[in-house]
Amino acid sequence: MASFSNLFSPDLIEGISDVLVSAEQIEQRVSELGRAISVDYAGKNPLLVGVLKGVLIFMADILRAITVPVEVDFIAVSTYSPETRDKGLVRLLKDLETPLNGRHVLFIEDVVDTGLTLNYLLSNLRTRSPASLEVCTLFNKSRHRLVDLPIKYTGFDLPDRFVVGYGLDHRERYRNLPFVALLTPQVVHSGRKET
Ligand code: IMP
Repeated sequence: MASFSNLFSPDLIEGISDVLVSAEQIEQRVSELGRAISVDYAGKNPLLVGVLKGVLIFMADILRAITVPVEVDFIAVSTYSPETRDKGLVRLLKDLETPLNGRHVLFIEDVVDTGLTLNYLLSNLRTRSPASLEVCTLFNKSRHRLVDLPIKYTGFDLPDRFVVGYGLDHRERYRNLPFVALLTPQVVHSGRKET
C-alpha cells in the first residue's frame, strides 16, 4: 500500500488491500498478447468484440498492441438478477453494429469467472456465422468455472478473489486504477463505504 498510496487520492484507494498485478506486469503481458494476435491474424482483418464496461481499458491497450489491421465493436449486457445470472441468462442492452457473417471475430474479455456470461454471448455470436470465433481474456479465474470454454489467449490466471482496477469495478468504483488489486474483506462483503 505504501508504494502507491502517495500517487492516488485516499478516497480512491480506500478499501484496497494489496496490488495483485502491477501496471508494469499488465503492460508487458498485453504487449505479448498483442504480438501473438498480430501473428495469428495477419491478413485476416479481425473484428475485436468487447463487453462494456469492464473491458474498456484492456480493449484500448490490446488494440494498440496489435500491429495488423483490426476493427472493434462493443456489446453491452445486463444480468437479469442473481438467480437468472447463475443460469447464464443475460439481457442484451446494446448489440453489435457490425455484421459477423464471414468475419474473423476475436472476443476480448476482461475477466472470465464462472464463464456463464461468455458462454451465453459466444452462443449468440455463433448464430451469426462468423468465419472464426476465438476468445482472449486478460484475467482467468477458473476455480468456479461452470462451463468449458475455448479460451485461446489468457493474460493472467488469478486466484478466486474479487479484483478491481484496470477497468474492473466494485459498484462502479476503482476502474481507473492502472493496476489490479484486492479489496479488503469488509468492502467485498459489505459494499464500499460511501465517501
Ligand atoms: P462470469 O459470467 O462469472 O464469468 O463473470 C464474468 C463477469 O463478471 C466479468 O465480465 C465481470 O464483469 C464480472 N466479474 C467477475 N469477476 C470479477 C472480479 O473479480 N472483479 C470485477 N468483476 C468481475
